[in-house]
Amino acid sequence: MGDDSPTISNAPTNARASAAVRLMQRDDALAVAQQHSQGITGGFLSTLGDRFLAHLYRGIASNPRGFVFVAVDDAGRVVGFVAGADSVSRLYRSVLLRRGWLLAGTLIRHFLRPSTVRRIIETLRYPKQVEGDSPEPELLSIVVDPQWRGSGVASHLVDALVAEFRRRRCSPVKVIVGAGLDRANAFYVRYGFRLAGSITSHGDKANVYTIEVDEGGPAGGMGKP
Ligand SMILES: CC(C)(COP(=O)(O)OP(=O)(O)OC[C@H]1O[C@@H](n2cnc3c(N)ncnc32)[C@H](O)[C@@H]1OP(=O)(O)O)[C@@H](O)C(=O)NCCC(=O)NCCS
Repeated sequence: MGDDSPTISNAPTNARASAAVRLMQRDDALAVAQQHSQGITGGFLSTLGDRFLAHLYRGIASNPRGFVFVAVDDAGRVVGFVAGADSVSRLYRSVLLRRGWLLAGTLIRHFLRPSTVRRIIETLRYPKQVEGDSPEPELLSIVVDPQWRGSGVASHLVDALVAEFRRRRCSPVKVIVGAGLDRANAFYVRYGFRLAGSITSHGDKANVYTIEVDEGGPAGGMGKP
């Protein structure tokens, strides 16, 4: 990204300096994977390892159906990311077609476990279960480094995601989040997402939130009505 990347002016008190939001580049993939596995500790994808996640996020970032924004500090270190897709089921299909062999290569040891195979299938099937009564465009995942939480980085990342969905004329947008993730649920509500329902994912309850992001919709970031 160039000079027009939004810069966060209110630097966190518990971190060193400001962070800037830009599109993920190929070289960011491992840092994004590490943020995912360390930030979403209860998530199934985290158990598949950072190499798998790095390939997955590279696949999402380079696919026309998906995109990833990262927040980087003054030293260029990734301190957060957000991923989105205009259609998760089509994105997964396309990523599997383009880099399925790379992803499979990182999973050889997992294929020996039937429970892991079952969960991979559930994960790939879940968009179809949810899509019936909720919008296809989705915020797939967001993580902010613990040192940068409460700093505004998360809302700047979602601002970038909202702008990208608006550019793609995708509205409304949904996010599915574990019901037990209090901070994430509080964050989405405060941002302007509305609870649309709940589902059971891998045996755990998850909340489905939606937000209108087209011109005139209620989205626009923290602090806006
Ligand atoms: C979700 C996440 C990106 C939000 O970023 P953040 O910087 O923590 O968000 P903010 O601090 O701006 O907002 C969080 C809200 O929750 C509140 N909050 C803080 N700690 C909390 C806690 N332990 N429990 C519940 N709410 C909490 C904050 O006060 C804030 O609400 P407020 O501004 O009305 O007071 C970040 O917490 C994170 O990376 N979590 C781990 C990964 C994750 O759960 N991702 C979501 C699933 S994909």
